[in-house]
Amino acid sequence: MSYTPVLLANVHKPDGHTLAVYEASGGYRALRRALKELGPDDVAGMVRASGLRGRGGAAFPTALKWSFLPKDHPGPIYLCVNADESEPGTFVNRVQMEGHPHQIIEGIILSAYATRASTAYLYLRYEYPLCHKRMQTAIDEAYAKGYLGKNILGSAFSLDIFIHRGAGAYVCGEETGLIESIEGRRAWPRIKPPFPAVEGLFRKPTVVNNVETMACVRAIVALGVEWFRSIGIPPDPKNPRDMGSLGPKLYGISGHVNRPGCYEAPLGISARQAIDELGGGVWKGRRVKAVVPGGLSTGVMTADELDLPLDFVGPLRAGCLGLGTACLIVLDETYSMFDFLYNSCRFFAHESCGQCTPCREGTHWSMMILRRMKAGRGRLIDLDLLAEVGDSIGIIPGTTICGLADGAAWPIKTTIRKFRGELEEYIQRTNPAGYKSTEPVFAET
Ligand SMILES: Cc1cc2nc3c(=O)[nH]c(=O)nc-3n(C[C@H](O)[C@H](O)[C@H](O)COP(=O)(O)O)c2cc1C
Ligand code: SF4
Repeated sequence: MSYTPVLLANVHKPDGHTLAVYEASGGYRALRRALKELGPDDVAGMVRASGLRGRGGAAFPTALKWSFLPKDHPGPIYLCVNADESEPGTFVNRVQMEGHPHQIIEGIILSAYATRASTAYLYLRYEYPLCHKRMQTAIDEAYAKGYLGKNILGSAFSLDIFIHRGAGAYVCGEETGLIESIEGRRAWPRIKPPFPAVEGLFRKPTVVNNVETMACVRAIVALGVEWFRSIGIPPDPKNPRDMGSLGPKLYGISGHVNRPGCYEAPLGISARQAIDELGGGVWKGRRVKAVVPGGLSTGVMTADELDLPLDFVGPLRAGCLGLGTACLIVLDETYSMFDFLYNSCRFFAHESCGQCTPCREGTHWSMMILRRMKAGRGRLIDLDLLAEVGDSIGIIPGTTICGLADGAAWPIKTTIRKFRGELEEYIQRTNPAGYKSTEPVFAET
């Protein structure tokens, strides 16, 4: 695959995180030009024309989200940059922030200019101390050089960036949970509407965007709309609703591969290319059994589905939740899918904030059923029970406030549908006397 990285351009350079190296590689030139030659609407127009879709998991068109901000608002407008990155298997924002922090800051300034935001908050996962150090140093360097603060580079535009360290829960990454957390409360997601663009941080219009989205904004202004649109999968001309999957993407690869890591490639490479060409193939000469395409929430693909493109629609065709964070977890042929299901349910039961009954009870009881199975008291009908829970919790079935419950449901549904035989064999092997039972059983505590 021949592709020159842009989002990771400085990550492997000596001192690539410093202002000196960033400026030497053309850093902050896009900002200089934008402040001199382009108005905020021109920058927003470039982002719209590029077809950029948010990289935080939902793939929402970035310029469309910005357009929901009220026009001529007297202010303030806030920009929250989501660096919570708590999705299991996901670590690409960390690599960017540690290795290429100024690119993110330039993207934040350009995005704030386009949205007329006067303050930006970087909501940073607490467990990322090196990111904290690198981002704070980069912000200080940017202030010292006049890229941040009052009247940036002599223009009428002013912006302050503050880092807010996260509170250590997965749900802090949900955009309204994140807003609650910055306001000093528990990260309980808010019922929408109102959406943050109308009433967000401190009840003011707010945009929440992912770190990688910010870096893409910078790349679009620096390298142009045509460059961005020349990468990835264009919209299907036969489908007017298809927005395409354009631009570069960071793919994280972890699990049973020879070269786990963070890689940049055009959107739409196949899972097989990601594993073989980027990740160096499955370790120990083994074969793939299953792959999580984009963070645990997205569910699993089988070895037969590896040729699907990792764009915004490919994983949907495999019955997954979507491309999510494009961070793959590769499981080799020896790995137990029961263990996968058990670990997944354990995670979501622990992370549910408890506000919505279907999520609180559904994630908890799934965990209890799996614990009982692990203790040798599983029944075949438990798989139907789990699948029923999976089908009934989340925003998609319309029963919860936020998408954490959908994230809990997809690993359950896809594992049961695609690996039912292996799970049935596990239940029969561990409970030979009672696996056919349909009688009620006590939960393990
Ligand atoms: C439970 C949960 C956790 C999330 N965690 C993150 C996260 O860590 N980082 C992120 O960018 N988006 C996360 N999101 C998605 C955000 O709510 C939001 O859609 C995203 O930050 C928007 O950025 P984008 O438009 O640039 O993609 C999460 C969503 C849910 C439901
Ligand atoms: S879906 Fe779950 S995590 Fe999200 S608000 Fe409801 S209970 Fe909390």
